[in-house]
Amino acid sequence: MGSMPAPLRSDAWYAGQDRNSYIHRAWMRRGAPDSAFDGRPQIAIANTASDLTPCNMHLSEVARSVANGVWEAGGVPLELPVVSLGETQVRPTAMLWRNMAAMAIEEMIRANPIDGVVLLGGCDKTIPSLLMGAASVDLPALVVPGGPMLTGTFRGAPLGCGTDVWRLSEEVRAGTLSNRDFQASQSAMIRSKGHCNTMGTASTMGLLAEVLGTTLPGTAGLPAPDSRLQERAHESGRLAVEMVREGRRPSQIISKASFHNAIVALGALGGSTNAVVHLLAIAGRLGVPLTLDEIDRAGHGIPLLVDLQPAGRHLMEDFHRAGGLTAVLREISDLLDLDALTVTGRPLGDYLEDGAIHDTEVIRPRSEPMMADAGIAVLRGDLAPDGAIIKPAAATAELLQHRGRAVVFDSVEDLHHRIDDPALDVDADSVLVLRGCGPRGYPGMPEVANLPLPRKLLQQGVRDMVRVCDGRMSGTAYGTVVLHVSPEGAAGGPLAKVRDGDPIVLDVEGRRIDVDVPAAEFAAREPAPAMVAALARPTRGWEKLYVDTVRGAETGADLDFLVGGSGDRVPRDSH
Ligand code: FES
Ligand code: MG
Repeated sequence: MGSMPAPLRSDAWYAGQDRNSYIHRAWMRRGAPDSAFDGRPQIAIANTASDLTPCNMHLSEVARSVANGVWEAGGVPLELPVVSLGETQVRPTAMLWRNMAAMAIEEMIRANPIDGVVLLGGCDKTIPSLLMGAASVDLPALVVPGGPMLTGTFRGAPLGCGTDVWRLSEEVRAGTLSNRDFQASQSAMIRSKGHCNTMGTASTMGLLAEVLGTTLPGTAGLPAPDSRLQERAHESGRLAVEMVREGRRPSQIISKASFHNAIVALGALGGSTNAVVHLLAIAGRLGVPLTLDEIDRAGHGIPLLVDLQPAGRHLMEDFHRAGGLTAVLREISDLLDLDALTVTGRPLGDYLEDGAIHDTEVIRPRSEPMMADAGIAVLRGDLAPDGAIIKPAAATAELLQHRGRAVVFDSVEDLHHRIDDPALDVDADSVLVLRGCGPRGYPGMPEVANLPLPRKLLQQGVRDMVRVCDGRMSGTAYGTVVLHVSPEGAAGGPLAKVRDGDPIVLDVEGRRIDVDVPAAEFAAREPAPAMVAALARPTRGWEKLYVDTVRGAETGADLDFLVGGSGDRVPRDSH
């Protein structure tokens, strides 16, 4: 048999001796040797490093290690800066830009002379947008998650990113913590490079990228400053070259089984509710059918094994020390599809044998879960015909079955204006309803569903109430919060018809969220005028495209024309 190397996609740019290949090669001569274009895999390193995405600032260091690995394996590394989203910095919400980032990443991967791509992400939306874009191109691709920051401490106690901001700010409002002490904790919270160190969205999506099979196993959860992350980055570079040589593409790796595993792991980790919209969107790009009902079924009866904030106490550095993802997956291996493939070409099950729990305070054995049934629950009912979700692990057990009078807010501004009004007609049993916060209404579906509690109730010692919202909540947040209510209020969902005083009935076990108003009366109601006015009507730019084409949260809030993929083919040359 001949040993002709398989043709590379990049040959279409660089091979041959004609004018166009001359141009493609000539402009790349900035130190690259002749051999760079003699049939070596060209590996893009899609880098979300940015000074305005502080959680990803260190990714250029990670990129250097990836590049070394690519060279070592006989490939050519090419850094490709891509759209980056700093969760805490961009307005009105990073989620408005997730699909824009995914679209830009997709097009730049496709347009360039590359054969494979290493995806460097960290902060919340970056890994989802990278995976969405890469899935729609379907070139060999793997993720290197940038990893969480180390644990910061304040006055001798650990401080968790995000979660403790929510907790401490409520203490200030309750009058049990001075604002001066609260402000002083600020510089202690962010101890090192890396993303949030709670089991927030960044940690969750890094870990789920590994469960989906898209990282070198054993990489996700390594703290950002850990030298082993650089080592894994180097090996990931080598693996990218191998993946190109073997033609191993996302569509061959990420299957229905991979999503099943991700949903099971999400429950056991106590991961972010945001994972639901991101997994649905990634599945949509790959053409893998995935519904909210399947997410509910897969999450049913999944024990919470990880005692991390926001559902518990510890932080990602503890999680890593305690055995990390592999230890958790091994503990629930009977619930996983162990044949699901990974980027190495070997199944996930091959990597779980060495998993071991080193600290049962942080990662519980299966026999002693934090909670027996912790998977994300999908609710339906009068208020959410297309679905809503709740994270039981972050909720108060006694509130999972609840009936209370609605106190309705038409916008975040309305909420901020009235929530602390001593005259607000609210008590501890009330259900706080916030609407106009869905993908089209805000627009962008912000993380506001964990609305603050009324100050007068905080001062009475109330620390949780049932809240219902068509927006999302931060992965670092907690509370008995029904979120992602679909259809959203501003797009004509029944949430728009709820009035102050309506009895709201939450039944998590029965998977229901209802309003106890006679059906005919409720159906005959007009949506609140404020809701009709709330539908955002931008006239130009990305916001217009977004509002005109975004789908509901129940299918992942992707743009309708971005669902699916276009492959890697570019039929025409540039000259
Ligand atoms: Fe970037 Fe939390 S703000 S991960
Ligand atoms: Mg977030």
